[in-house]
Amino acid sequence: MSAFGWPLRRRFLLEPGTAFLNHGSFGTTPRRVLAAARRWQRRMEANPDRFVREILPGALRDAAARLAGFLSCSERDLVFVENATSGANAVLRSLELRPGDEILATTHGYNAVRQAMRYVCSRTGAKLVEARIDLPVKNESDLIASIQNNIGKRTRLLVLDHVSSPTGLIFPVKRLAALARRRGVQVLIDGAHAPGQLDLDIASLGVDWYTGNCHKWLFAPKGCGFLWARKSAQRGLHPLAISHGYGKGLAAEFDWTGTRDFSAWLAITAALDFYSRLNPQRLRAHNHRLAIESATAISRAWGMPLDGPPELHGSMMAVRLPDSLQRSDPARLMSRYLTLRRTVVAVMQIGGARWLRLSAQAYNSPGDYAALLRTLPEK
Ligand SMILES: Cc1ncc(COP(=O)(O)O)c(C=O)c1O
Repeated sequence: MSAFGWPLRRRFLLEPGTAFLNHGSFGTTPRRVLAAARRWQRRMEANPDRFVREILPGALRDAAARLAGFLSCSERDLVFVENATSGANAVLRSLELRPGDEILATTHGYNAVRQAMRYVCSRTGAKLVEARIDLPVKNESDLIASIQNNIGKRTRLLVLDHVSSPTGLIFPVKRLAALARRRGVQVLIDGAHAPGQLDLDIASLGVDWYTGNCHKWLFAPKGCGFLWARKSAQRGLHPLAISHGYGKGLAAEFDWTGTRDFSAWLAITAALDFYSRLNPQRLRAHNHRLAIESATAISRAWGMPLDGPPELHGSMMAVRLPDSLQRSDPARLMSRYLTLRRTVVAVMQIGGARWLRLSAQAYNSPGDYAALLRTLPEK
């Protein structure tokens, strides 16, 4: 396939003239993968009855098997969900928590998942504890210590982002899971950003549940997420919509939660083909280098810190915004970047401060980041 950077942009629908530096938020899907999803839709619409009864069950399991191969886990422990938000919700809302139990998360957790944790706590009398992680992070041991110090006698569940949303920091989930399990604490990983950005071997991580998105860094159409559960953590786990498969096992419960468009899940095969043709190792190296080099150049130009060391990042990195912008509204800043700089970039708020989060994907080249270097954004 073509070289990374500009030559690859034509394989996507990205609008011309705009530097797209926010792959992290929603991803963007290649034309070829969208075409594969459309083909599945046409197959369904040609005879919906036959499709649902005779084609879909096998096709879904085949797609799950292909994804399981990529994630290094068993197809029997893997189901599709719409996105990481619903995967995390399915786990959280299946838990049997008692008053006084604690869910331990971090101050870097994704807000939608935090709200789901607050909701289950409010229904059960459990408590949400958030380990504070200050930026910049110095090293992996810092991350581990902040979390370990907050595991207590009542901690029932540890919820960690594999790659944190506001910064792109990679959490050492395997080491943290081992610590948690020694204390009898179950572990849910929110891997919304991990598939495609990191080399994953889910079954070896020692966690109980792992949810992730394929529509961010794996090029699948929107609405393609997954949930993996170790065997012992499958009992009592139910999708958000209980349907015909209730009580019949993981796949039966999750594969059918009511009539829907299945094309995003079925197109995972095309997404994985696209990803592997790019050469995953080279792709990840390209993205990592671009994210680190551009964030470092901006941090030097602005005289502001990076969120942590390069080795704790994959394809995203954050730079603290200059003091003059620390009071600005993040959404307004993002709109200003777009209208004045033709640049799509994420402005994140964490620990009361505003950070600029840069993403780097196959279609990005160094020139995309130039507008951020030249001038400070307007208030
Ligand atoms: C850590 C994390 N979890 C969950 C999500 C939610 O993803 P989705 O909207 O696809 O459910 C995101 C989105 O950026 C995220 O960064």
